[in-house]
Amino acid sequence: SNVVLDRENPEFLANAYTTYAELRATAPVVRCPFGRGLADGAHPEGSKGREPGKVPGRDRLFVTRYDEAVSALLDDRLSSDFRSAMTPEQRALLEANMPEDFRPIAHSIIMLDPPDHTRLRKLVQPNFTARAMELLRPRIQRIVDELLDGVERKAAERGEAVSERRMDLVEAFAYPLPVTVISDMLGIPVEDREKVHGWAEGLLHADRQDAVRDEKLRAGMRAFRQYLDELFERKRREPAEDMISQMLHVQEDGDTLSHQEMVSMVFILFFAGHVTTVNLIGNGVVALLTHPEQHARFLADPAGLAKGLVEETLRYWGPVDYMSTPRIVKEELELAGTHIPQGENLSVGLASANRDPARFANPDVFDITRPDAHRNIAFGKGIHVCIGAPLARLEGQLAFESLFKRFPKLRLAIPTEELRWSSVASLRGFSRIPVLF
Ligand code: HEM
Repeated sequence: SNVVLDRENPEFLANAYTTYAELRATAPVVRCPFGRGLADGAHPEGSKGREPGKVPGRDRLFVTRYDEAVSALLDDRLSSDFRSAMTPEQRALLEANMPEDFRPIAHSIIMLDPPDHTRLRKLVQPNFTARAMELLRPRIQRIVDELLDGVERKAAERGEAVSERRMDLVEAFAYPLPVTVISDMLGIPVEDREKVHGWAEGLLHADRQDAVRDEKLRAGMRAFRQYLDELFERKRREPAEDMISQMLHVQEDGDTLSHQEMVSMVFILFFAGHVTTVNLIGNGVVALLTHPEQHARFLADPAGLAKGLVEETLRYWGPVDYMSTPRIVKEELELAGTHIPQGENLSVGLASANRDPARFANPDVFDITRPDAHRNIAFGKGIHVCIGAPLARLEGQLAFESLFKRFPKLRLAIPTEELRWSSVASLRGFSRIPVLF
């Protein structure tokens, strides 16, 4: 296909689901040119010959349909490690040339294969079990309530009449909620958070054309890394009840976790732990406010329907969309009758799969009571399935329930057409959602 899956192109962003439908109808696996991802920047040659603003001529095989997407994600002939198709010499060259600041991204769990992947995953998994979530629930609820109290207090201080109260939902609620929760879990002290957010913003708004040479990004990553070194030192001296202390303890105990791996893990938990969930909350609120019948239904029973709203939002407007999720073919295979040679780049279209009419009836209808919405693959599938899924789901449920109970009159403060999809760090969401409450 000559469709370019380029999330830097606003036209693609606005029509992504129509494009996916066309691709699905064409074939289960379609070759398309792709825009760049941050990970490409980790390659020393990655940006060579690339004209700013132009999509590189790099093709990928895009997996368009649900069944094939699931098979691909479960297939161990597909690798998540972008180094896996390289020769040992190329690998050595890559490692030698990789800027120090990029190592945390290039070596994070999401880009590793077993056995390293398995070892790292086991280490953090206990923090995300159903039981761990039940223990976290009251803490998350308290953070939700405090944020909503803050919103009301600020509106009162500004002297807004009750009917005129407004906020940017992202800035006031959808963003601070997951950031506060993950910072609490990791043990990043409250007084450091402003600083850490600054670096995170730098990474999110990095120049994807040339991430390796983006000075602001590199400076932010360097600062974050130095900060973590100091924080680890502090926590070694004074361990607390948090994930960083726990990982340090494992490290001393069995030598199964290198310093580099620890930095990478904190890094990915911090970033994956908030940007995605911001969009889950934002996308869910916008979907509800723009579907009046669903909105009315939800208001009649927020506690009962919060789960349904989370699952249907993940399916309908999943936060990790444009990029889909990349794999490299380690060993040739057949997928849906298509022969796929070794070394090929594949991209599993999570969002496209979630709109596959062969899996979901009337897939383009937003329906919070859809009985099988939870079969969505917005969190992926297989060994890399999102570790944070139970946390994101819980945050989403508590956020939706509390927000609409507190502000049943919540509505958009601008016409729907003025809302713009953005693609910060390959995530599908709205960077601003002005609402009246
Ligand atoms: C992996 C989506 C929230 C941490 C993934 C993957 C997806 C995803 C699709 C798999 C990528 C692949 O197979 O290549 C999402 C969405 C979220 C969300 C849609 C919110 C709605 C979170 C949260 C955390 C988190 C809250 C942590 C606190 C991770 C980690 C991985 C991951 C560590 C890598 C797992 C592995 O490689 O084994 N996420 N995520 N995510 N996610 Fe999430």
